[in-house]
Amino acid sequence: MSDTKPVIYVLNGPNLNLLGLREPEIYGSDTLDDIAGMLEDRAQEMGLTIDMRQTNHEGMLVDWLHEAQAEGARAVLLNAAAYTHTSIALLDAIKAISTPVIEVHLSDPSTREEFRHLSYIAKAAAKTVQGHGAQSYVIALEAIGNGEV
Ligand code: DQA
Repeated sequence: MSDTKPVIYVLNGPNLNLLGLREPEIYGSDTLDDIAGMLEDRAQEMGLTIDMRQTNHEGMLVDWLHEAQAEGARAVLLNAAAYTHTSIALLDAIKAISTPVIEVHLSDPSTREEFRHLSYIAKAAAKTVQGHGAQSYVIALEAIGNGEV
């Protein structure tokens, strides 16, 4: 039987491969695999499929955003990590596709160092969910499931 469930791309940027080890007092002890598991469980309940990826390379995130549109993904959850605060290329990529993108952060960058207060992603994202730790991803997924995005 072919799987026709809508696909949600979950794209993760630099240093998020070290989640669980990296500054756990800020980002928590869940690994990216733990988050993928949480999302897969919730997605299954909502009749969605998750395609979870991580890269440390900015251009790869651009390629994956284009791919999300080309492959007909229902939406993208994007934690661009530090590229959030620097990447006009990612802003342009989000503007170049019609697939809705939800910006996700574990921490709340607006309450941290000043250089984290600017988000290029927020300028084009359909919604931002931040500051809820690993639950930020689940809350973002639920916004798709309930039709908010
Ligand atoms: C982050 C916040 C960013 O400022 C930071 O560079 C990250 C992680 C978060 O999920 O809280 O790498 O995106």
